[in-house]
Amino acid sequence: MITIAIAKGRMQESALSLLARAGIRLQEDGLNSRRLALMDESGQYRFIFVKPADVPVYVEHGIADCGVVGRDVLLESQADLLLPLDLGICRCRIAVAAVDSEAMSKVQGMIRVATKYSQIARTHFGSRGIPVEIIQLSGSVELAPALGLADMIVDLVETGITLRENGLTVVEEIAESSGRLVVNRASYQLKADEVTRLINALDATLNGKR
Ligand code: PRP
Repeated sequence: MITIAIAKGRMQESALSLLARAGIRLQEDGLNSRRLALMDESGQYRFIFVKPADVPVYVEHGIADCGVVGRDVLLESQADLLLPLDLGICRCRIAVAAVDSEAMSKVQGMIRVATKYSQIARTHFGSRGIPVEIIQLSGSVELAPALGLADMIVDLVETGITLRENGLTVVEEIAESSGRLVVNRASYQLKADEVTRLINALDATLNGKR
């Protein structure tokens, strides 16, 4: 049996629908359930549903053999995992945004950056030699500039609607993100057949061969 950690929230529905297209379906009674661990119809796969940031933790520790999670979360976590497949789901960008597109040159003193992605933000500004104060938030980050908590934000942009409706504009793009299949290093060796079967099934589905 293989355990797959699925990021709850925006990724969950697309991940389950891609897995279903690859022939891996939740048991009927699990679809409307609040249980956080469910088997698939074949009994070969166990799904666990966890917060996105916890997917790399479960997979790196080998509690889950595989996981489905956004690249944004992986960049932030820096966990040591194998990344065999870009699943192409939930495509978005990680970007710096501010009220004014020229904000970078206008801020005097240290730039205050509000974000859920402190590691990504620190690395991005650090590599450019720009000193920043990182203000760690857990969500609704787009509020911070308007309320005076920060000069800029680093956040996900998918449609751009949240930015627009909160009076912000993209200043710089940092990276692209999409859902990735991640695999624990030991599981890749010890459960080689099962893991390879999963990777091949997803790969064939993504390439229209299934
Ligand atoms: C994400 C992200 C942005 C928004 C971007 O938030 O942090 O706020 O979606 O999407 P858009 O460009 O299509 O408007 P999420 O829904 O995950 O909530 P949270 O960050 O506030 O927790």
